[in-house]
Amino acid sequence: MKIVIASRNAKKIEELKRILEGIEINLLSINDFPELEEVEEDGLTFEENALKKARYVCQKTGLPAFSDDSGLEVEALGGKPGVRSARYAGERATDEDNIKKLLKDLEGVPLEKRNARFVCCIALVFPDGQEYIFWGYVKGKITESPRGNYGFGYDPVFIPEGFQKTFAEMEPHEKDKISHRREALNKLKDFLIKLGPPYKQNLL
Ligand code: IMP
Repeated sequence: MKIVIASRNAKKIEELKRILEGIEINLLSINDFPELEEVEEDGLTFEENALKKARYVCQKTGLPAFSDDSGLEVEALGGKPGVRSARYAGERATDEDNIKKLLKDLEGVPLEKRNARFVCCIALVFPDGQEYIFWGYVKGKITESPRGNYGFGYDPVFIPEGFQKTFAEMEPHEKDKISHRREALNKLKDFLIKLGPPYKQNLL
């Protein structure tokens, strides 16, 4: 069965493939379809953005497609950066720029009020129009300075609940076990495994 991951982010694709390993699907990414254009993530919610990307890729490739839209929600900032996580410090912001802005916005906020969570929303869209949404979350705290070199995005400033290390100090497989993306992907994986044979033919 073939499914297209609607993402060009190499690190994210790597992480998604690692988590979905072992299930019998041929995972393609939009890098395998150079003619596809960039989809603007202008939705107001994770779900809107995830659906928009997956619908576009499914429509253009004629294959089932899934996309994940994810981000960081910080309680003391009323849920920001949220859907704007990738562009928090500006349209062309790097991970470092975004982290710098986040830490500045949280200056003076004590540890007990630095609660945050990563959110992952996966949209799976079939050529026959069926659409499914899967959610995953991981709660934690925002540190006062970046630590660690693994991962991407806000990993260096996020300590998951029950740990002392930031996501960027964890080996990738350690993060995979507890990440928001893992939770949402597990739900997607269970769904795909449960698909009956007649349905499965839709995916070939
Ligand atoms: P998008 O889902 O590609 O729109 O990206 C969302 C943004 O949220 C990323 O660019 C990161 O800034 C942040 N983000 C999402 N998931 C993670 C994660 O697992 N670690 C660190 N940052 C993340």
